[in-house]
Parts: sequence; C-alpha cells; structure tokens
Amino acid sequence: MFEFRVITIFAELFESFREASLIGKAGSKELLDVKLIDLRDFTDDRHRTIDDAPYGGGSGMVMKAEPILKALERNAECHRILLTPQGTPLTQKIAHRLAGQSPLLLFCGRYEGVDERARGAFDEEISIGDFVLNGGEVAAMAVIEVVSRLIPGVLGNAESIIEESFNSGTLEYPQYTRPEMVDGASVPSVLLSGNHKRVQEWRRGQALMRTRDRRPDLFEKLEISRLDRTLLEQASKGKGE
Ligand code: 6GU
Repeated sequence: MFEFRVITIFAELFESFREASLIGKAGSKELLDVKLIDLRDFTDDRHRTIDDAPYGGGSGMVMKAEPILKALERNAECHRILLTPQGTPLTQKIAHRLAGQSPLLLFCGRYEGVDERARGAFDEEISIGDFVLNGGEVAAMAVIEVVSRLIPGVLGNAESIIEESFNSGTLEYPQYTRPEMVDGASVPSVLLSGNHKRVQEWRRGQALMRTRDRRPDLFEKLEISRLDRTLLEQASKGKGE
C-alpha cells in the first residue's frame, strides 16, 4: 500500500479529492492511502499559531519553524517534500522516482514561505510550475494524482501506462469518438480504415507534428528515426485526413 501523508492547515480541501475518481477507487482497493495531518496539532499555544510576521518587515506571513520541525520529527520515516514555488519543477521522471518513495510526506507551504530554519529538515522541495498559488494544497493534490497513476493496479487500464511511456517525450495524438460527423467535421478516414499499422503510423506522425509545433523544447530532445521523418512529413501534408 502506497501511503501519502499531507501536512496542511486546510485539511477540508482534500476531503472530496480523496473520495473522487481514481484516488477514491484506489483507496477502497487498499492500493493507496492519503492521511491528513493538521499542522496546528504541533503548536503549543492557546491560539494554535502557525505563522507570524517576517523579521525585517514586509507583507504577508511566514510559517513558524517549530510546528514544522515537530511535525517532521514525528514523521521521520517518510520521504519529506516541501511544496513551494521555489522547488524543483515536477516532471514525469520525478513522479516515477517518487512512486518508489512511500510513505511520502507532502508539506503544504504558503507561498510567502516557511522560516528558513525549517527548510533544511525536508528531503527536497518541489514546485508544480512557474506560477504562484496561495498555498501548496493544490500542488499536493497534483503530486498525489501524478504519483498515484504510476502505482501498479491504480490505473484501470495497464496498457495506458505502457503506451504512455512508449510515447514518452511527445504530446498525445488527436482522439475521436462517435459520431462520425460533428457540426460538419468528420473523423480522419485512416481511423475508420481498420488498418492497425496505418492507424499507428498516423498517430505517431500527429504526435510528432503536435510536439514540433506546440513544444519545440520537447521536440528538440526527441530521437527521431527515419520512419519518424517520413511520418512527420506526411502529417504536415495532411495525409490520412
Ligand atoms: Cl508547490 N506552491 C505554491 N504556493 N505555489 C506554486 C507551487 C507550489 N508550484 C507552483 N506554484
């Protein structure tokens, strides 16, 4: 069983997330567990204070070091992650590594930051992208979802994961489902041909074209075979439509 522990001051944000969809199903199959830990349980003042004004002045509040250090000490057996916009940007590769690091502790920091003296107690810091959230809660849910899909048995269709890793590095090819005509727009004829090899090649060409056009940064890193070149050329000419 893969175990996530989330330290937050907003546990209620996770309630429906925990029950919903894949995460909920995997939970009832006992493949994974999401435990919620209230940071305020590690305070010792009457008001259960977890933040305070920054030394040196400035706007916003800083999360106090002691409750964080106590909470981490109590969860020393975990791989401990601080969620912060200053962390390493999350990638699928990092997610694969994290999928082997149960119990995984996710600490939801607020964006103004945590006292520097608590930061050293984490094993790593992770960000989910170059934008600012008010707190790490949504980021923690993203990490839980990304990692959960990689736990054996969690995805209904084991093939999707295999196919995904086979296609790794490219964007997905375009998908269609019934009906054949929507507002005058038809389905590419190759997908109705029943020719599996032609379908596979068309999809590869589309995936390559999309990656080249939308994510040149990813395209540059791909190893393109001679067949790929041909498929990309055909896709650019609109073959198979
Ligand atoms: Cl992990 N936390 C916050 N507060 N903002 C973020 C983030 C994390 N990742 C991107 N933006």
